[in-house]
Amino acid sequence: MIPTLRQPDRSFTRDLVQRAEDANCRALCVTVDSPVFGPRNREERAKAELPERELPNLKGKDYLDPTLTWKDIDWLRSFARRPVLLKGILNPDDAETAVKAAVNRIIVSNHGARNLDTVPATIDALPLVVERVAGRVPVIVDGGIRRGTDVLKAFARGAAAVQIGRPYLWRRGLAASDGVSRVVAILLREFELAMILAGHPFARSTARRSGHAPVRVPCYVGSYARKLQS
Ligand SMILES: Cc1cc2nc3c(=O)[nH]c(=O)nc-3n(C[C@H](O)[C@H](O)[C@H](O)COP(=O)(O)O)c2cc1C
Repeated sequence: MIPTLRQPDRSFTRDLVQRAEDANCRALCVTVDSPVFGPRNREERAKAELPERELPNLKGKDYLDPTLTWKDIDWLRSFARRPVLLKGILNPDDAETAVKAAVNRIIVSNHGARNLDTVPATIDALPLVVERVAGRVPVIVDGGIRRGTDVLKAFARGAAAVQIGRPYLWRRGLAASDGVSRVVAILLREFELAMILAGHPFARSTARRSGHAPVRVPCYVGSYARKLQS
């Protein structure tokens, strides 16, 4: 999945999308919750600033785009050959517009609560978005997924999948050779236990409201349950 469309230069963005698709990227993700950065006091105190530069996938200094509108999503959809995901939806009305704009997935996210203080928690915004979308596209969620029980709660509130942010970085920060796969393994094990202990050994039963069964999870849970029984 490639993050895209946040750079103001549209021809550069179009070229980036086409190169990513040619390299077999599986989806295009547009972050829609950050037209600008929120106040970042520590960065300001440190006078941290990105240098002007041109890299293969990043051009200039200001790689956020405050002019982004729904027309830009239509523009991307007009030539994209891969599914388009919108990341950063919290309001059910925006979710409705996104569905009408024919996006393929919605990601309920508040940018890890890093941009705007007092935004709603994604676990609270999720069921409202799921209800409005009513199964027309899968709804994914991120923000604060730290334990298997968080995954279970997200599925119970209608998510089709969860995304993980900082735990991957923390694991990488340990310079651990097993990288992010260890984080995934821990979360999966905790999720399996949470499912069993909550009396839902089959993940499909949590997905009733969303209409989208979480991909692959039932076989993990089933295999763990069998292991426990033997
Ligand atoms: C250091 C850092 C950098 C991030 N940069 C981006 C980014 O460039 N684009 C984006 O859409 N989200 C970005 N995010 C937000 C994550 O994609 C994700 O929404 C968030 O971290 C999920 O919450 P979690 O960290 O609690 O799991 C960033 C998050 C962190 C911690």
